[in-house]
Amino acid sequence: MEKYQLDESVLNWAKDTWEKLSAKLSEEEKRVGSSMPYIPVNGRYEDMGEKALTWWTNGFWGGILWQMYHATKEERYAETARKVEERLDKALEAYEGVDHDLGFMWLHTAVADYRLKQDAVSKARGLHAAALLASRFQPMGGFFKAWNQGPTVAIIDCLMNLPLLYWGSEIGGNPSWKQLAMTHADTAMEHILRPDGSSNHIVVFDPKTGECIDKPGGQGYGKGSSWTRGQSWAIYGMALSYRYTGKDAYLDAAKRSAHYFIANAAMNDFDVVIDFRAPKEPVYYDTTAAACAACGLLELAEHVTEYEKELYVSAAIKLLQRLTERFCNWNVEEDGILTHGSARYDRASDREVPIIYGDYFLLEGILRVLGKDFLIW
Ligand code: GLY
Repeated sequence: MEKYQLDESVLNWAKDTWEKLSAKLSEEEKRVGSSMPYIPVNGRYEDMGEKALTWWTNGFWGGILWQMYHATKEERYAETARKVEERLDKALEAYEGVDHDLGFMWLHTAVADYRLKQDAVSKARGLHAAALLASRFQPMGGFFKAWNQGPTVAIIDCLMNLPLLYWGSEIGGNPSWKQLAMTHADTAMEHILRPDGSSNHIVVFDPKTGECIDKPGGQGYGKGSSWTRGQSWAIYGMALSYRYTGKDAYLDAAKRSAHYFIANAAMNDFDVVIDFRAPKEPVYYDTTAAACAACGLLELAEHVTEYEKELYVSAAIKLLQRLTERFCNWNVEEDGILTHGSARYDRASDREVPIIYGDYFLLEGILRVLGKDFLIW
């Protein structure tokens, strides 16, 4: 069902892109199977599940498969997604190596399976993952500890993990998980987001006192800069916290992040670089940030008044259209669709390459435009 009143040309573009996505992902499913793809090398994905089972992106292929199952009703996608989910059990049991990205990993696998197939084992997996995330809560400071090594930090990305707790508290997990998630979102508004709509990536806390002691640079250009994927996590994450709680401050924060993102992206014809505050040269793109922001803007559009929708929907469509005009590899013989994704600013090996989460968000974005998406978050 179409959610938006779209021009015929936009509708045709979205339908055409969906056909291409569908053709390419159909071939990839046969090649990739229950591997856990990340960045293709010479047009082929390697299996991260063999190399690093707890790697934070290991759920995204499952998310792609569940979106494909939902949109096409072809069982093979569900069957392969279930295998990915089962492989992740070892990561859940290992405990060690798993960090706060439990949402990215299990919302896309076990929780999606439960939502679409009502599988009881999948529900239990999702609840286990939620319990692990809840156990990372830092009462002094009020946030979820992001990583296992180094100082105690909270990062903007974690907003995307919170829906695991909102879901868990709704379906029989501990009701306090929702409060913990809201406390984290409140802390993010106070210390991670900036008043101008931009966002820090990392904030360091003293775990004994809860005092915020530093805001270093992260995967963007440097301290005080504006890493674009972080900006997109802010839009989408805050809109999702609003979806599950109805707290107006989260909607306002999502809007501030959206306005900042749209203004900066528009300065560059909606081509998105790795960091809005990096030097003009060299130009390094991050298509994953654009795709994720588009999905966040479409989520935000679902929660605002009719008067406000147009801004977010048309900005999302502009972002997605730039991606399909300039940055897509539709060759079905090669793995990876969205080119020029960047994991971080300072590492050439994973800069301007296809990355699995870019493809996930491109797919989700196009399905959202067509009203065929499934809410994975
Ligand atoms: N969550 C890590 C990243 O966005 O690269």
